[in-house]
Amino acid sequence: MKVNRREFLAAGGVLSGAICANQWGLSAWGGQGGSIVRVRKDVATLTASSPEILSLKKGVAAMKALGLMDLRNWRRQAEIHGTILGAFGNCQHGNWWFLPWHRVYLYYFEEIIRQLSGDDDFALPYWDWSKDFSVPGLFWGQDNPLANPARSGEVGSGRNIGPDDIISDANQRRFVNQTVISGILRSPDFAVFAGEAAAMLGDGPGQGRLEGGPHNFIHNWIGGDMQTGGSPYDPIFWLHHCNVDRLWTEWVRRHPDGMPNDQGWLGTKYAGHFCDRNGQSITSESTGAPISAARVLNTDEIGYRYDRRTSAIPFNLANASDMRLLAGPVLSRANAQFADRAVDFKTASNEEFSGQVSSLADRDKPYSVRLRLKDVKIPKDRNVAVDVYFNCLKASKDLTITDSSYAGSVTFFHGSHEGSHGGATFLMDVSPVVARLYADRPFKPDEPIKVTLVTSSLNEAEPWTGSVQELAPQQVSIELVGPKND
Ligand code: C2O
Repeated sequence: MKVNRREFLAAGGVLSGAICANQWGLSAWGGQGGSIVRVRKDVATLTASSPEILSLKKGVAAMKALGLMDLRNWRRQAEIHGTILGAFGNCQHGNWWFLPWHRVYLYYFEEIIRQLSGDDDFALPYWDWSKDFSVPGLFWGQDNPLANPARSGEVGSGRNIGPDDIISDANQRRFVNQTVISGILRSPDFAVFAGEAAAMLGDGPGQGRLEGGPHNFIHNWIGGDMQTGGSPYDPIFWLHHCNVDRLWTEWVRRHPDGMPNDQGWLGTKYAGHFCDRNGQSITSESTGAPISAARVLNTDEIGYRYDRRTSAIPFNLANASDMRLLAGPVLSRANAQFADRAVDFKTASNEEFSGQVSSLADRDKPYSVRLRLKDVKIPKDRNVAVDVYFNCLKASKDLTITDSSYAGSVTFFHGSHEGSHGGATFLMDVSPVVARLYADRPFKPDEPIKVTLVTSSLNEAEPWTGSVQELAPQQVSIELVGPKND
């Protein structure tokens, strides 16, 4: 069943109006989650006796106590995402359903917690790792349903982080701090922000910045279950993704016309992936259940807002400015040059590209210079950060992330070593770098384009044991994209 676009847009319009007219938090709008718009709060503002935490503990404990035949059982819920051995399941990564799929996952998790805790006002808190650089204290301790023993020190649990571990300064600056996050939110290109268009669920054409940077980093940094497909076994998973979801709403505020108005994205149903608060599997939207992007774009409609915002998210699909490729030089693996911990990809000339770049200054429509790292093989040792530089002048050994050619960093979580693709593909926005580097000099047609990838260990105390040869992408390309109707 396809969503009728006109109906959907009309409903969206009417809905925003209705919500503005109502008292914040007391909206009479009845989404599936009940008749109120609840507030998802920053976990840093909560204590062990906050109702959200009490209900979350109660609900999680109840889920853990349910039999395996019940789809709401803790392990069964985690297995929607992946297995205890680490393989990935129905979860969507590396494509444009990454955000809506995880939003629906959180929505049903919230519903189950409401049911099992008896607290119908329950809203999931979020962990804002852009300012709080350690796993919240409420998620540790013996006999705490919110702790995860595999997090701290079981065989194969990875990094063994503990309650006192803090994301290192270098990692804050690469992956999570507010400078990184506002850079990610600034990009107008939905694919670069959130993941690339795909034909089918399960495809992995490209991870956006939010996924390939901070999202993957947090999974990896926590380690244990969080490093695997079975990450929802660790209760912190839910608060991590709640923050990812919150950042989606923040992006939409900055780019209300930015989401794709495309039935492939909007209408694809995650049929049979989730179960409702009573443990019934959800196979269609005919019951009103929101299992597609179209049904979850307005969070009021599914019963929540985030605490720092008191108005509905002002999105507009009718004005969607889909991006199209204007020019795209490919830097192939054949001309890659390897150094100790770095690899350079270079073109000889960039005629078409430089012409387009020079005219960027005159454009008033959003555009972006996208960088694509295609099919990066997932290294066995994932204790690695890859810093990406565009047209740097220094030798790779002298580069640091304060260099003006620094474009951002990626790290690994989901890759399709279990799927049909060669590895993980990452998209980045290098427009800010281009703007910085070519503010006062032209980008000449004979100037080569160079992309440098520098590896370093994610955990500074342990060296990365992989090799840069192994890690090099199959292909690197630069894509100049602008609005379709420009
Ligand atoms: Cu589907 Cu952060 O995981």
